[in-house]
Amino acid sequence: MKSNFSVVGLDAMTNYYDVSLKESRNSILKLNNNFNFYLGSTQDENLLNHICTKHKPDIIMHLAAQAGVRHSIKNPKSYVEANLVGTFSILEIARKFKPKHLLISSTSSVYGNNLEYPFHEKQKSDTPISFYAATKKSNEVMAHSYSHLYKIPITIFRFFTVFGPWGRPDMALFQFTKNILSKKTINLYNNGDMKRDFTYIEDLIKAIYLLKDTIPHEPSERKLEIEGDSISKTAPFRIVNIGNSKSIKLLDFVNELEKCLGMKANKNFIKIQDGDIKETHSNIELLNKLTGFKPEVTLSRGIKEFVEWYKNYYKEL
Ligand SMILES: NC(=O)c1ccc[n+]([C@@H]2O[C@H](COP(=O)([O-])OP(=O)(O)OC[C@H]3O[C@@H](n4cnc5c(N)ncnc54)[C@H](O)[C@@H]3O)[C@@H](O)[C@H]2O)c1
Repeated sequence: MKSNFSVVGLDAMTNYYDVSLKESRNSILKLNNNFNFYLGSTQDENLLNHICTKHKPDIIMHLAAQAGVRHSIKNPKSYVEANLVGTFSILEIARKFKPKHLLISSTSSVYGNNLEYPFHEKQKSDTPISFYAATKKSNEVMAHSYSHLYKIPITIFRFFTVFGPWGRPDMALFQFTKNILSKKTINLYNNGDMKRDFTYIEDLIKAIYLLKDTIPHEPSERKLEIEGDSISKTAPFRIVNIGNSKSIKLLDFVNELEKCLGMKANKNFIKIQDGDIKETHSNIELLNKLTGFKPEVTLSRGIKEFVEWYKNYYKEL
């Protein structure tokens, strides 16, 4: 995708996982003349002030977070700092600098143990079952209040299990690939009876790219009503799912990976982990109505792209 805007990145490069992987990604971004990078945390309001004064962003996209459902059970405090305090600072900075649009990433985990599939944005999402999800849900409602009070146009996007090259090492695809290649066992939670809506990274980026220009209007300025819209009645604020809209059985996912690697996994079937949702499945009708987005990358192609990247990247190290 070629565009004529510049991007300023901020990342604390936390050591939740291998920092050198983050640095390698960043070194690719830095090849672009229109990219500036700042090392620092979202909690640092002085730094945010400095960046916004210097670069005057039209759009602020807040993707930084302490991610991971399981990690949040044992280490809840880091989620308070990065997700609650960090998002508060971003909201404060948006109040001061008034971007045209603030976009904040949330997660399918906010749907908790809802059994009404596929998940749609207007569904109940206030009974999270992990602390990670609780902090992300809190981010959504904090953002709504700022949107209402200070008239900041805000879009929250809820991501569904993102996968692909350069992905997070704590995610299933990364762990499974690593363990199968080194002939170690892979853990299949809930005895393998899980389903996930796997969203390929390129599709996700395309959806975000389209949503940045889909700015929610103030209630008084709205012309067209979109059926099923999650837009707030009292603020320029909307929540949008970004997923593939297919829910894949974990064992089918592993099967596809085994085919791609040409190797069989040693499977260890174990009980469901605290905080884990059994099934995620996105309804992406709203995203489609707003932007025309349709996911394009199949699971098998996505897995193939990941495996190729993984083998290449770790061969080089
Ligand atoms: N990957 C998924 O499947 C998925 C699913 C749902 C939601 N999300 C959300 O998407 C966003 C991106 O997730 P990701 O999977 O790329 O995770 P990631 O951990 O790779 O990316 C988050 C980045 O934020 C940085 N960070 C953490 N705390 C920070 C802080 N206080 N200040 C500045 N930077 C900080 C980390 O160093 C990291 O590079 C997160 O908000 C996450 O909650 C991801």
